Amino acid sequence: MPEFTADQLIQPLGDWQRSHHCAQTDLALLGQDVCLMGWVQYRRDHGGLIFIDLRDREGLTQVVFSPDHNLQAHQEAHVLRPEYVLAVKGTVRQRPEGMRNPNLKTGQIEVVVNDWKLLNAALTPPFPIEERIDVSDHLRLKYRYLDLRRKGMTRNLRLRHDAVQSVRSFLNAEGFLEVETPVLTKSTPEGARDFLVPSRQHAGHFFALPQSPQLFKQLLMLGGQEKYYQIVRCFRDEDLRADRQPEFTQIDLEMAFVQEEQVMSIAERMIKRVIASTVDKDLETPFPRMSYSRALDIYGLDRPDTRFGLLLHDCTHIVKDSDFKLFAEAEMVKAIRVEQGEHLSRREIDELTEFVKIFGARGLAWIKIKADQWHSPIAKFLREEEKQQLVRELGLKPGDIVFFQAGKADMVRTTLGNLRLKLAEKLDLIPEDRLDPVWITDFPLFEWDQEEKRWTACHHPFTAPRDDDRDLLESAPELARARAYDLVLNGSEIGGGSIRIHTPDLQSRMFQALGISREEADSKFGFLIEALKYGSPPHGGIAFGLDRLLMILGRTDSIREVIAFPKTQKGACLLTDAPTAVPAKQLGELGLRIKG
Ligand code: AMO
Repeated sequence: MPEFTADQLIQPLGDWQRSHHCAQTDLALLGQDVCLMGWVQYRRDHGGLIFIDLRDREGLTQVVFSPDHNLQAHQEAHVLRPEYVLAVKGTVRQRPEGMRNPNLKTGQIEVVVNDWKLLNAALTPPFPIEERIDVSDHLRLKYRYLDLRRKGMTRNLRLRHDAVQSVRSFLNAEGFLEVETPVLTKSTPEGARDFLVPSRQHAGHFFALPQSPQLFKQLLMLGGQEKYYQIVRCFRDEDLRADRQPEFTQIDLEMAFVQEEQVMSIAERMIKRVIASTVDKDLETPFPRMSYSRALDIYGLDRPDTRFGLLLHDCTHIVKDSDFKLFAEAEMVKAIRVEQGEHLSRREIDELTEFVKIFGARGLAWIKIKADQWHSPIAKFLREEEKQQLVRELGLKPGDIVFFQAGKADMVRTTLGNLRLKLAEKLDLIPEDRLDPVWITDFPLFEWDQEEKRWTACHHPFTAPRDDDRDLLESAPELARARAYDLVLNGSEIGGGSIRIHTPDLQSRMFQALGISREEADSKFGFLIEALKYGSPPHGGIAFGLDRLLMILGRTDSIREVIAFPKTQKGACLLTDAPTAVPAKQLGELGLRIKG
């Protein structure tokens, strides 16, 4: 038998044209000639025949090289290895009985090769291009182009495509105009560090990459554009988490002459449409709403996962005079009752105790409720009437376990809010296929920054206070409420927005309340204050985190799964090795020198 090397066989594509995608080859094409192109998924030599699973973006087709049919093609096909690239011309025929795969659309047929071309060879990939294998994130990102050949990644990219198309078609029909805003711009305060770009023409000066197009979209309203949207890249230099990337995509929109209700209505109808057209689920509108304070009260977090119970109960009033000093002296005491959770072992409770320490808790108090007595390291400190009141207010039953946290209000809420999520996961209480949206409203306008000892904007400095609360800006900022709203889906903040300040006076007062001096306000936002003097319409908007939304719809646990070329946890690109050092000459042109 003649031996061939791949190099000898590689040919140009020439005038060959693909007639079908692999996924299109089914019984409807029996007896027809097709031309397919793709990659070798598997090669099997069996009974004198060579079988190739040919893969393209749409699917797999079994291709057969038969010596009876074309001897030379069969001999040449011995060179084929996984990921080699080929084009085949062949005839669709039914697979012999016993070789049919009812689970695959193309599983009834095979294509018997009449002619073929090897278009390219391939090194053995560092991991097989398959779904059900565990590959390290490092390898996947380094060889992202190979990872993208896997079915799951194609599915995620298609999901992304479909979502973006449906956003565009929905907003276009609602009269929105898609407008692009600059990427080389000035800092916008969204709470993260900026990525800076040095200017060659203005040595010593820097552009900032936008953390969001916030100010430009407001200027578009000032520019009379009334309804704007953009699917836009934003850049934030912040510590990365499973749902954060340094560059991510927002669905950003803004409308003039509106109040909260109109923005929220458009936004929820858009999300409903995206969800219907991507994962075929019908969400009921209007979405439920919850005030920020209620969310903190019963979920501990301002992004409540409302798919399951395990709500937080306030016990501060029950134990305020307790002999148990830890409880009596705490600013807040809250509890989570886990129905029939007494089976949790000491080891599991110890693990949970370690877990809550991440949030500043020093320990985790617990009680197992038995019919005759309470098992707990703390039960002995509680008086009978306190126990009775706990039973009444928390609805305790034998078999339950209750976890308590006592201390500063913020710590108690955050700790139990996160413990709630941990418990739900551990006890398998989260209905996986549910999508539960909830609007969070009635945010405070300001938050106290303990480190900097000053008020910061809870949303951003352009968010309007409630009309009734304008006078509180100077006198009682802690009481001022914001005209802001967040949309939370399954416990993830997928969007946030607000009605904006549209008069120069109020905007200046806001900067003052935030401790931003007049000079600083002038140098950073002078252009905005100036613009607001030229007839700004009332306006408001919202931005959604597209990647986060897709993470939920695609049921992935990392934002990287829905981004073609993401960054690592350390903000690097393993594929290109960016960021990299640059030659001194290039730095010199920019007027920069690296220290040390
Ligand atoms: P905000 O800062 O809340 O609002 O951002 C809007 C949404 O963007 C998503 N998001 C992120 N997604 C991935 N990685 C990140 N690092 C990241 N940071 C934020 C979240 C968030 O809800 N200009 C305002 C919007 C407005 O007021 O209209 C803004 O950017 O899902």
